[in-house]
Amino acid sequence: MKPFIAANWKLHKLPSEMDAWVKALHTALAGVDLERLELALCAPYTHLPALHEALRGGGVKLGAQDVSAHDQGAYTGEVSAAMLKDVGVHYVIVGHSERREYHREDDALVHAKVEAVLGSGLVPILCVGEKLGEREAGQAEAVTLQQLEAALAGLTIKTADGLVVAYEPVWAIGTGKTATDSDAQAMCGSVRGKLRELMPDLADDVRVLYGGSMKGDNAGGLLAQPDVNGGLVGSASLDAASLAEIAAAC
Ligand code: 13P
Repeated sequence: MKPFIAANWKLHKLPSEMDAWVKALHTALAGVDLERLELALCAPYTHLPALHEALRGGGVKLGAQDVSAHDQGAYTGEVSAAMLKDVGVHYVIVGHSERREYHREDDALVHAKVEAVLGSGLVPILCVGEKLGEREAGQAEAVTLQQLEAALAGLTIKTADGLVVAYEPVWAIGTGKTATDSDAQAMCGSVRGKLRELMPDLADDVRVLYGGSMKGDNAGGLLAQPDVNGGLVGSASLDAASLAEIAAAC
């Protein structure tokens, strides 16, 4: 399986900066064999058309950070999966812990969003993971697997590359506290185990990413774990050279 590195820029950068940023990325990636991995940039909605243009022909895929659960209608401020597809999006992050926490997204809404993404032929990057208190209470695995099962219940995933799952422990996001290699493996392994129950024929080929303070200097150890098939990278993805360092660790 090719490692998959997805950048999540969150609320950063401007659409007018896309050309220069993509040039900087290609310069930084000069020594990296791009055949060995897959790379995607998940940007704010406003950046997507400009980024699609800037990425054209360069082998890096386009992603969004959220989506509406609705296809169309009177839903002011929402953006549908079909709209994302129309501007060249391939991946959509769904259920990020920042959406769950700051926008009160619950399991039912995450499920509806995954369904909307699949319905448009796009690929969800489904985020799951526990908070610090849940880990300390010994609930890390139960919470994470419950989120996974709730998001996917009753949905049909047709091919293994039609779904990506990102295990992102909330306590590791933006804190500089990365999970140890063995903790990341244990949790991504549990995610794989649940996927085997939910989709036995595909589970071994579904990409399971780790996210949470992944950087150039810890990516190698994390990505060497058998059930860690890539990374969902926040802060370190804002700088082209730092993102290229992680790509080089694949
Ligand atoms: P950081 O890499 O900044 O910890 O963010 C991880 C993340 O939330 C990616 O979705």
